[in-house]
Amino acid sequence: MHIDNSKRLHERATRVIPGGVNSATRRLPQPYAWAWAEGAQIRDVDGNTYLDYHAAFGPIVLGHNDPEVNAAVAAALNGPDMVGVGITEQEIRLAEKVVEHVPSAEMALAFSSGSEATYMAVRLARGVTGRKKLIKFQGTFHGWHDYLLLNVISPAERIGHKDPGSAGQLPDAIDNTIIVPFNDLAATERAIAEHPGEIAAIFMEAIPHNIGCVLPRQDFVEGLRKLCDKHGIVLVFDEVITGFRHGLGGYQAVLGVTPDISTFAKAIANGYPCAIIAGKRELMEQFSTFPGGKVFVGGTYNGHPVGSAAALATIAALEDGSVHERTFRLGARLRDGLAEIAGRLGIEMVSAGYGSVFTPYFMSGPIERYEDLLRNDTARDVGFRSAMCAEGIFMLPMPLKRNHVSAAHTDADVDHTLDVAERVLKAMR
Ligand SMILES: Cc1ncc(COP(=O)(O)O)c(C=O)c1O
Repeated sequence: MHIDNSKRLHERATRVIPGGVNSATRRLPQPYAWAWAEGAQIRDVDGNTYLDYHAAFGPIVLGHNDPEVNAAVAAALNGPDMVGVGITEQEIRLAEKVVEHVPSAEMALAFSSGSEATYMAVRLARGVTGRKKLIKFQGTFHGWHDYLLLNVISPAERIGHKDPGSAGQLPDAIDNTIIVPFNDLAATERAIAEHPGEIAAIFMEAIPHNIGCVLPRQDFVEGLRKLCDKHGIVLVFDEVITGFRHGLGGYQAVLGVTPDISTFAKAIANGYPCAIIAGKRELMEQFSTFPGGKVFVGGTYNGHPVGSAAALATIAALEDGSVHERTFRLGARLRDGLAEIAGRLGIEMVSAGYGSVFTPYFMSGPIERYEDLLRNDTARDVGFRSAMCAEGIFMLPMPLKRNHVSAAHTDADVDHTLDVAERVLKAMR
């Protein structure tokens, strides 16, 4: 596989962009520069075409450059671009759709990125409770801001300690975020008891997908709901990945547990920038968009016509259920197929996932929390993914990362993926 043009562009990029990429998670051992993307395929500047399961970390649920989403965006360009005060009917329609579909959503506000939405959820929770502390779980990611950027993919020696994700985070922000093992209700209860009346919010990824796919136990989530009710804590489901990809109602509709606040981004707009914070009316009316609301909220690009149009078109495409039916079926074929091959070849693998998401872990089960994933064979995990990429099947060559099926993938794509995986796994054995 020639990558000379990618290398050249990477070198050029590094002269003006630190590291040559615009987000830390975009930097890979091999430089990639992209020229084209359509449906389930992406092509680099050297003409290498890949079947894409990375899906840009998850937004691509219909397929790249979906014609209907793009047409809606093009139509939006003929409407008001940005006026900066008041509202457009399109923004209202988007909020109406979120309220219609998401069980916990009585009102919604739009932003451009998931980090803005989770940041606003932090401020809202603190503003309404008058409390400082947050609980998050080891292994979850909620965006780049100081308050929640802790203990994501922590090395073994940092488990049980604060593991901030960046230099420059305020010590006060780090101190006020408490880390608890996922799926551990007793530990969550202990953390609350150790800080009586101090916890403003519990943040959970509806499924911790930033470490692949670790499903929440039903009793854990129901227990969290009860604990939050008992102690006056705001329960936040971060559905930035799960929202709309796992169903129009998010994963909360699957769980049947209603958070106070939810955040959405990624798959809501099939790759265009749009994010949502939604929740109970009594909480949402504390935002300063509401007269007398004391929690300031702003953002020049909030409800931007391009993102809103893309979100409305994406939601419209999801509404008859056929996309979920198809992507869930293909997702199951990939999960089952990988498990079957690994079993036959005697390779230790947990083929995890949900719906359109699949993550092969190179380890034995059970997997209930991040700490279990320390048993994953990182060299095998990355070796498998890198070999798949070399064969033209793009699975992000980093450990623990999830793969995504979009509506543009076909049964033939799945057959091909499993054939290649079998060859790669045989060679690894
Ligand atoms: C669960 C979750 N929440 C929040 C974010 C932040 O979203 P964004 O990158 O759009 O700021 C991410 C990004 O990957 C995410 O996975």
